[in-house]
Amino acid sequence: MPQRERYLFVCTNRRPDDHPKGSCGHRGADEVLRELKGELARRGLAEAQARACASGCLDQCASGVAVLVEPDHFFYGHVTPADVPAIVDALASGGRVASLVLSDADLAKG
Ligand code: FES
Repeated sequence: MPQRERYLFVCTNRRPDDHPKGSCGHRGADEVLRELKGELARRGLAEAQARACASGCLDQCASGVAVLVEPDHFFYGHVTPADVPAIVDALASGGRVASLVLSDADLAKG
């Protein structure tokens, strides 16, 4: 399998229900990952352009569901399944969905 141009790491970490930090797993991360994989495959991008992978905690719990895009090295935050088409559109054109990109201030919250 060739190395893809980009990898989208979707945090699917799930903490106990009563954990004060919450977790991406409780905010719909599995659905986001499933939608991303499906959309990439439907558009024929999964073979060479991008792969969506499950990840452990990315330390952006306050902004979950968190998605790290590499090698571009930026985070999407508060991602829902409804955001997936726009994310894949941006991926196909080499851009980003600016409204979902975490700022330095967001990143500092952890
Ligand atoms: S639980 Fe998802 S970034 Fe920490």
